[in-house]
Amino acid sequence: MADITLRVNGSEHQVNVPPETPLLWVLRDTLQMTGTKFGCGAGLCGACTVHVGGEAVRSCSTPVSQSVGKDIVTIEGLPGNGLHPLQQAWIAEQVPQCGYCQTGQIMAAAALLVKTPQPSDEQITQAMTGNICRCGTYDRIRKAIHRAAAGGGR
Ligand code: FES
Ligand code: FES
Repeated sequence: MADITLRVNGSEHQVNVPPETPLLWVLRDTLQMTGTKFGCGAGLCGACTVHVGGEAVRSCSTPVSQSVGKDIVTIEGLPGNGLHPLQQAWIAEQVPQCGYCQTGQIMAAAALLVKTPQPSDEQITQAMTGNICRCGTYDRIRKAIHRAAAGGGR
C-alpha cells in the first residue's frame, strides 16, 4: 500500500492503495465515482474511458501510479454549464440504448473535440473506434458529436 495523491475533477484526493491498482478501481471503489464503467477490464471496450493529462485513457488498464501529478477528469467532472454540450447533444439525439458504454463514448468524444473541434466523419471514426457499443448506437453517436461540434447541444 502507498499514500497516493490524485487530482480528480479539480480536487485532490489521498488514497491508500497499491501503486499498480488500476485507476478504474480507485475511481469506483475508493472514491465512489461510479459514473465510469467496468466493461471488459482488459483495455478492449472503452467503457472505462477517462481523461488523464488531457488524453482519453482506459482506466481499467492504467495503474493509478501513472496518473499521479496529472489532471484526471471523469464523466462527473466534464466541464459545462450544467451539462456538457456533448451530454446535451446525446439527449437531443437520444443516443443511449442500454447506456452501459455511453460514459466511455462521451469521454472519448470530449477528448476528440478538444483537439479537433470540427471533426470529419473519418476523424470521428478514428477517434471512437476503440469504444464498443453492443447496442449499435454508432450512427447516433456520430450525429451527436456533429451536433455538439456545431454548438447545437439541444
Ligand atoms: S473496461 Fe476498460 S477497456 Fe473495457
Ligand atoms: S448503449 Fe448499450 S452498449 Fe452502448
